Amino acid sequence: MSSALYFTHKGILFPNKGYDVETLNFVENEFQLLDDDVLNVTYPKSGTNWMQEILGLILHNGDPSWVRSSVAWERSPWIEPIGGMKTALASRPPRLMASHLPFQLFPKSFLQSKAKVIYTLRNPKDVLVSFYHYSKCCKIFKDPGTVEEFLEEFLSGNVVYGSWFDHVKSWLEVKGRPNAFFNSYEDLQQDLRGSVEKICHFLGKELNSQQIDSVVENASFQKMKDNPKSNFTTLPDDFLDHKKGKLLRKGIVGDWKNLLTVAQSERFDRVYQEKMKGVSVTFPWE
Ligand code: A3P
Repeated sequence: MSSALYFTHKGILFPNKGYDVETLNFVENEFQLLDDDVLNVTYPKSGTNWMQEILGLILHNGDPSWVRSSVAWERSPWIEPIGGMKTALASRPPRLMASHLPFQLFPKSFLQSKAKVIYTLRNPKDVLVSFYHYSKCCKIFKDPGTVEEFLEEFLSGNVVYGSWFDHVKSWLEVKGRPNAFFNSYEDLQQDLRGSVEKICHFLGKELNSQQIDSVVENASFQKMKDNPKSNFTTLPDDFLDHKKGKLLRKGIVGDWKNLLTVAQSERFDRVYQEKMKGVSVTFPWE
C-alpha cells in the first residue's frame, strides 16, 4: 500500500519527504563504508537516539561537550535520507552514522569492510506504541489512525521501513560476525553501565571508571530530555509538530500494557509466534 506521503522501494515504504529511490540505490550499491566507521542500526523507535548519545559519549571518552554542541543528525547522520547521506559523505573519519535500513538495503560494502555495526532491538509491542505516538507528531509519517488500525499496519509491515519482523530477521543473519554487536533497549534499561562496558569492549575503546560514569550519567533519559541538541526540539515544525508530541516521550519498558487491550495483545502474540517461527534467539521480552 502506498499513500501520498510514502513511496515503495523494493517492497518497503519510505517517506516522500527527504527520501528518494536514487539515494536508496546509491546507499545500497555504492556507499563505501570505511573500516573505522561505527554504525548505529535499528528498526525505528527502538532506542536509536539513546544509542546515538551513548556512542557519541563513548567515542569522546565520556566528555559531553560534543553531544551538547552538535545536533544528533549532524554528529551521527542517518545514511539513507538524502540530506543525511550527504552529511555522512562529508564527515571526516572516524564517522559515526545511523541507519534504519533492513540488511538487504544496507550498504553492500559492509560485507568487505571492518566497519562496526551496533544493532539495537526493542520489544516490538513497545516499538509499536512508541511508533504510534510518534506518528501523530512526525509530519513525514502518516497519521496512525486508531490503535486498532495502526496495530494492523504494523503487523503487516505497512509502515515506514517495513515489517519489524523482517527487519530483525534480516539483521540476525549477520549475528556472529566480529564487526556486528547486538543489544536491546531492555538491556540498556536493566544495566546501562554494564551495556556501556560491553559496547566499549566491542569498539576497542578503553574508558576508565570515571569516564564510564560520565557516559551513563549523560545518556540518562532526563539528561537527554534537557539537551536541546538531542531532544529534537530544534527540528523544524514541518518535520515535527512539537505541540503534538516529542521524541523523549516516556522512555520505559512495558508501556504497551497501557495502550493495547488484552485482545490486541493476544492478536499481536499470534502474529509474533507465526512470524518468528524458526528464530532460535531468545529475546529479553520473551
Ligand atoms: P518512548 O516513545 O516509548 O518513550 P528512537 O530513538 O529509535 O526513535 O526511539 C525513541 C524511543 O526511545 C522513545 O520511546 C524514547 O523515549 C526512548 N528513549 C530515548 N532516549 C532514551 C533514554 N535516554 N532512556 C530511555 N529511553 C529513551
